[in-house]
Amino acid sequence: MEVRAFAEQVLYSESLEDKLKPAVGDFTDDSPGESVNIQEPARSDKLKFAPRRMEASMPKPGAFKHAERRGTAHHILANHELQALEVMARVALLFPDAPTEFRIGLCRIMQDEQRHTRMHAERAAMLGIEFSSLPVNSYIWTKSLEFKSVLDYIATLPLVFEGCNLDHTLEFASCFEDAGDDRSAALMRVIHRDEIEHVAFGMKWLRKLKPAEQSDWDAFCEHLKWPLRPVKAKGDVFQVEARRQAGLSDDFIEKLRLAEEDDR
Ligand SMILES: [Fe+2]
Ligand SMILES: [Fe+2]
Repeated sequence: MEVRAFAEQVLYSESLEDKLKPAVGDFTDDSPGESVNIQEPARSDKLKFAPRRMEASMPKPGAFKHAERRGTAHHILANHELQALEVMARVALLFPDAPTEFRIGLCRIMQDEQRHTRMHAERAAMLGIEFSSLPVNSYIWTKSLEFKSVLDYIATLPLVFEGCNLDHTLEFASCFEDAGDDRSAALMRVIHRDEIEHVAFGMKWLRKLKPAEQSDWDAFCEHLKWPLRPVKAKGDVFQVEARRQAGLSDDFIEKLRLAEEDDR
């Protein structure tokens, strides 16, 4: 399947079924076409982005003992995964001149994001919360509207959002475990492992696309748009080993570990 056709399927289909449909056959990139700057993904009425402050908020760890609150957590996380998928599709349409190997690698990751969305949506439904029954936010999508280059994308999505998810996935796994929900905990661990690969993809392409004399860290910081900053690329419990597995250098990991709220 052509990269462009796959990205269009994700962004132009309103139905969740179509957005989450796996690609047909291997990916090809013979006709990347013109750059298209999509401002909003097509979504069914119930999954359209809600105005700020209307969206459901993440339950506190103590609330995870209630099945319906765990369902709400999965609902919010399904929307994060869906936005990651849509942002990647947006990048495929916005940067047709990016290297073919990057574009095809991006599509393979999109298939993981389709699977993650489905896993969270199904688990939410099992816990009594139908996916699309709660208002959803546009936080990740909105950040993508500022991308001017592939490096802007890499710094933001793989290195900040997927990077902090190396911590959040295991934090959520513990919350679910503490509540006796081993299935949800196992789901989070599966996503954690995939996320290591996704961060690795980001770091690999940061290194390929940045100027040779610039450090990984400086390239990362240069391409972040405020209020995004290094501290946003980590959660509460900092996972050093997962970051090593993702190919981050010891220097990069240490700078990230020390990053604080008011660092620029
Ligand atoms: Fe994901
Ligand atoms: Fe991911």
